[in-house]
Amino acid sequence: MDLTVTIGKRSLKNPVGLASGTFGYGGEYESLVDLSAVGALYTKTITPAPRAGNECPRIIETPSGLLNSIGLANVGVEVYIKEKLPALKDADCAIVANISGETEDGFGSVIGSLEECERIWGYEVNVSCPNVSRGGIAFGTDPGVVEHLTSRLRRITEKPLIVKLTPNVTDICAIARAAEAGGADAVSCINTVVGMVIDTEKKRPVLGSGTGGLSGPAIRPVGVAAVYRVKRAVSIPVIGLGGIMTGDDALQYLLAGAAAVQIGTATFVDPSAAIKVLQGIESYCRREGIKSIPELNALLE
Ligand SMILES: Cc1cc2nc3c(=O)[nH]c(=O)nc-3n(C[C@H](O)[C@H](O)[C@H](O)COP(=O)(O)O)c2cc1C
Repeated sequence: MDLTVTIGKRSLKNPVGLASGTFGYGGEYESLVDLSAVGALYTKTITPAPRAGNECPRIIETPSGLLNSIGLANVGVEVYIKEKLPALKDADCAIVANISGETEDGFGSVIGSLEECERIWGYEVNVSCPNVSRGGIAFGTDPGVVEHLTSRLRRITEKPLIVKLTPNVTDICAIARAAEAGGADAVSCINTVVGMVIDTEKKRPVLGSGTGGLSGPAIRPVGVAAVYRVKRAVSIPVIGLGGIMTGDDALQYLLAGAAAVQIGTATFVDPSAAIKVLQGIESYCRREGIKSIPELNALLE
């Protein structure tokens, strides 16, 4: 069985990754999870300067999911390079830096700073955060903007460039095609789905910022459908995520056409969820006599 995945000019040793923002910068989980078991760690979104994030409360549980509005709180690219990346020096998995900015220049400057870091395998461009007023989803809802931004970033790097899509649009396929036209090596879908919870006693939204992004099993059918549609709209690999808790959940994405998957909210329930997901995929492939991910992709009737 060969579960390697090729994205752009590089490959991942297996299709399971840890989703951005749900595994910190990686080092935090060192004593709990063997990072060498997963194919990739997508680190928390990094912006040019540090960000404090949104007003609290920023995360609440909902039926079958989480609603969060972190607001891209992060240490900024300088501290990321000086303190966070070195902590990952022994992790034998691909480190994908998830990046964002308030302007095209901002996105470009983060990648520009990270290009020197050999440890970075590639980039995931977050044009899909629903919880910030500038940047984030504002970039990811307009095909023209996505194509322009992607082609600009393409000129800065030869490393794998993955554009992370939002489901909060009329036609996610149009945005995926724009990323492909701009030169993206892959797209990942989906980021969180806009949601809101209201406290009926206080008569106000529970989250400090009002609305937030829904993740977890509640959004899995949305993610699987997005991957199924996007896979048929583009020729580049599609990375699937949204509500994957088990190997079987990941297999739905792989059958829908995903080249790889990411595990997010499940890690909050069980820090080693991603490793169990990988084991589930492997045992399914062994049982069904499947030798590779493309073979899996072709099986859906
Ligand atoms: C608490 C939290 C923080 C997140 N932060 C980020 C982030 O910084 N950048 C990003 O691209 N996605 C972020 N996400 C979105 C996840 O990477 C993922 O796209 C989404 O949660 C769906 O996957 P899941 O249902 O497996 O969690 C965050 C999600 C959660 C729950």
